[in-house]
Amino acid sequence: MTREQRKLDHIRHALTTADTSGNGFRDMQFIHQCFPEINVEQTNVETMIGPIKSAAPIMINAMTGGGGQRTKEINGAIAELAANLGVPAACGSQMAAVKDSSQQDTFSVMRERSPYGILFANIGAEAAVDEAAAAVNMIQANALQIHINPIQELVMPEGDRHFNGLLEKIAAVKKELEIPLIVKEVGFGMSMESAKLAVEAGADIIDTGGHGGTNFSAVENSRRQNELSMFDSWGIPTAVSLIETKQSVDVPVIASGGIRTADDILKSLSCGAAACGMAGAVLKNLQEKGLEKTAQEMNDMIEYIRLGMTALGKKRVKDLTGSPVIISGSTGLWLKERGISTSVFARRTSAL
Ligand SMILES: Cc1cc2nc3c(=O)[nH]c(=O)nc-3n(C[C@H](O)[C@H](O)[C@H](O)COP(=O)(O)O)c2cc1C
Repeated sequence: MTREQRKLDHIRHALTTADTSGNGFRDMQFIHQCFPEINVEQTNVETMIGPIKSAAPIMINAMTGGGGQRTKEINGAIAELAANLGVPAACGSQMAAVKDSSQQDTFSVMRERSPYGILFANIGAEAAVDEAAAAVNMIQANALQIHINPIQELVMPEGDRHFNGLLEKIAAVKKELEIPLIVKEVGFGMSMESAKLAVEAGADIIDTGGHGGTNFSAVENSRRQNELSMFDSWGIPTAVSLIETKQSVDVPVIASGGIRTADDILKSLSCGAAACGMAGAVLKNLQEKGLEKTAQEMNDMIEYIRLGMTALGKKRVKDLTGSPVIISGSTGLWLKERGISTSVFARRTSAL
């Protein structure tokens, strides 16, 4: 199977295999405050992801490119959508175009459609320094995402079987990089231990890529002759991954993996995320409803975030981390077992 065909397969199967087992945010509940003492128009949804300013606490995460015309159209639409919202967008892994220049326009279309927008380049951790630089230059990127996807590779029959030395490779790329480095998972989550290693290797920002949304084990299984279901329920739910990461490292964190609603986003922000990444849900909407309707729904979601902030009496995104939240169910249990106190979240003061 060619790399181009695989990219198209991923889009097809991602749309039908999204996980419904939960991103963990259903186990969280805000404490209602009946005196918010602010007005909706006083809320400001702008956020900083490290040095990157975004008009809303959302980004469109890495998905595609390198699969010919169809992937070019999707990347063009994603770039335009993100530019209109004033939020970042990432392209999918650019290794295809680094190795085959005929695929470059499927990525560079993003910069054409978003000349002044915030765009993230994307490449696997196996990339050499010059390959990462080529990816950045291809879209004049504002940050580079390096993705880590061992489970996806293991389930993919033609996938990589060598994971030795990836941290060293990340450190080498970081040394030459002049823009922020984001290290991301692709749907199996970042643990405390992994987040620490990623930051030691040079990550400026971590993207959790948690379990609960696009499930690359299920996606790859749809492409396999003999199913390998062992990894379908493998992974750290996004809510857990976000809290584990925030507990272990002091860098901005993007919460991603099954983010679908304003409620998911408000809860992520309250647990310290700088923003949330959305991939599969945006792709599904673009495919089924088109660019205009998708933009309208995302604008509605941003408005719902403002309503949620109002209900919690929080004017700025970063103030949400003062909102008390109850964490129960399997999310609460997981955190306690890992030595993280959920009472701290429940009892923090909601200074309005
Ligand atoms: C069709 C598709 C292709 C993807 N390709 C990439 C990729 O090339 N590089 C990457 O870092 N992540 C890739 N991802 C993973 C997403 O960036 C994201 O981490 C993951 O889908 C979890 O978010 P979600 O549940 O909102 O989809 C892809 C996701 C989808 C749906």
